[in-house]
Amino acid sequence: MCGIVGYIGSEECLPILINGLKKLEYRGYDSSGIALASSNDIEIIKSKGNLKNLENELNSKKYDSNMGIGHTRWATHGIPSVLNAHPHVCCENNIALVHNGIIENYQELKKELKSKGHKFCSETDTEVLVHLVEENIKETTSFREAVEKSLSKVKGSYAITVMNKNEPETLIAARKDSPLVIGSAKDGNFVASDIPAILEKTRNISILDDNEIAILKANSVDFYSNGKKVNKKPIEVTWDLEAAEKGGYEDFMLKEIYEQPKAVKETLRAYLNGKKIDLSFLGLKKVDLKEIDRIFVLACGTSYHAAWVGKLIIEQWANLPVEIDISSEFRYRFPVLSENTLILAVTQSGETADTLAGVKEALNRGQKTLAITNVLGSTITREANGVLLTQAGPEIGVAATKTFTTQISVLYLLALELAKVRGTLSDAEIQKKIEDILTLPAKIEEALSTAEAIEKLAGEYYKKPDFLFLGRGFGLPVALEGALKLKEISYIHAEGCAAGEMKHGPIALIDENCPIVAVANKSKTYAKVVSNIEEVKARGADVIAVISENEKLLKNYLKKYITVPLIDEALSPITTIIPLQLFAYYMAKAKGLNVDQPRNLAKSVTVE
Ligand code: G6P
Repeated sequence: MCGIVGYIGSEECLPILINGLKKLEYRGYDSSGIALASSNDIEIIKSKGNLKNLENELNSKKYDSNMGIGHTRWATHGIPSVLNAHPHVCCENNIALVHNGIIENYQELKKELKSKGHKFCSETDTEVLVHLVEENIKETTSFREAVEKSLSKVKGSYAITVMNKNEPETLIAARKDSPLVIGSAKDGNFVASDIPAILEKTRNISILDDNEIAILKANSVDFYSNGKKVNKKPIEVTWDLEAAEKGGYEDFMLKEIYEQPKAVKETLRAYLNGKKIDLSFLGLKKVDLKEIDRIFVLACGTSYHAAWVGKLIIEQWANLPVEIDISSEFRYRFPVLSENTLILAVTQSGETADTLAGVKEALNRGQKTLAITNVLGSTITREANGVLLTQAGPEIGVAATKTFTTQISVLYLLALELAKVRGTLSDAEIQKKIEDILTLPAKIEEALSTAEAIEKLAGEYYKKPDFLFLGRGFGLPVALEGALKLKEISYIHAEGCAAGEMKHGPIALIDENCPIVAVANKSKTYAKVVSNIEEVKARGADVIAVISENEKLLKNYLKKYITVPLIDEALSPITTIIPLQLFAYYMAKAKGLNVDQPRNLAKSVTVE
């Protein structure tokens, strides 16, 4: 949720921190702050709201520092305010700390520390950490030991970076259940919540594991686990730096919508050798796949909608029962899982707390686990038995777009691989489906050509307070995702609903102020969707439908429609979602909103 960046070295620190935080704002933007080591002191500068405010504050001042930490916050404990913004400092002002995660026993620790004379000035859980380090420095022989001792008292999750005025040549970073990476370069060492924050400076990245501590100096980094030094092998990151820039687009979200043909193509290319599927993913072998008798998919948000498409496709092609669950529900119930139930986690970030906890729970129960994620080196890639990486590149806009279509692309290939090992589709049928799948990037391209018409529609509709999205079969997860996109970035109330279920309640909402968006492409339930459209029209609803090209019936009947290319209905979610992503985008733009940083949301939800 929050973003952390830190630097120690020979370069000027401030621009490194600010540039890093810019890349991490997707993790939260309620407030931001930095701490800089300067001639025997620590200077703290914080600001409420997004990073621009902090930059304005910094503009007029000059800082000369080679070590510092920065933070961008997504509020959990305490309102977004300057007092609650990180870095937090201890009573003597000699230790500063930034934190991502939740300290579950902070009330208890706070009471104890207060009884020892510590004075607190924020409402955050984080502040106890800095006081704890201050307290433990008195009782230990080194800064590292003080941090280790403090963390041993903590329950919950953390990624932290700490600096100490009395040790101006050291930065300490540690993690448990929240991501943190360490980067090394000739001119210094870096710490960050996520790789893009420091990619401009180094491609030499070490991923911190749970319960590890990194001691960063200007010319070295040492790693410790349980008090003992450990060796870590860095990875060389090969991403294209431009992938994390706007590249001429007004917003990241728009850029990412337009990147979908490429993202899907790259993802398919990663797992298709010509027309042969090659999933050679870690841990799971063909033989394991053959033994699976059920799949249980865990996911949140947009990933959950992609998982839903996956369920439909795996059931249809591989004749294998698939259940999907919202990760936060799965982890607290006790589903009946056979020995051969595969737990499949779908998560863009690979860091979503509930999805990770669900996977851990499954591993504890001895289940096989497979993850579909977009982030190399993320926690889930190290937890799950098998990993399939989507090749979407960094997704910065908070509202997920290209990761939705790439997750579905991987799910198609997984479904076909399952169909193959289970013998539910013939080789010829599989070949035909792969040929169709390979046409998807071009079909997305065609669907994107509706942008201008959609922008016009948004101009007509952006003042409406409520929307109902309808779909059936493969159109249902698309309707749910379309409604999620709209509410996420335009703050318009939007509900997604199974078109057949509409009569059992949602129909009561319908009037001229509640437009309907219907996913009505050619499918086996097409005629039923058309009937549902007639039902809502009969009640005065204004209908916008996503229809297949060459479609006559609805074109004659409806005034507002968007056409997408005709394709097998099983593959249609990748095309029908495109106009709905664009619709949400242009609605938010028409309202003058910040589409990349919608209020209250964060891209990576690392708390429960
Ligand atoms: C947040 C993001 C969503 C995302 C969801 C799940 O809510 O704002 O865009 O779909 O988390 O994230 P994951 O990384 O697990 O896919």
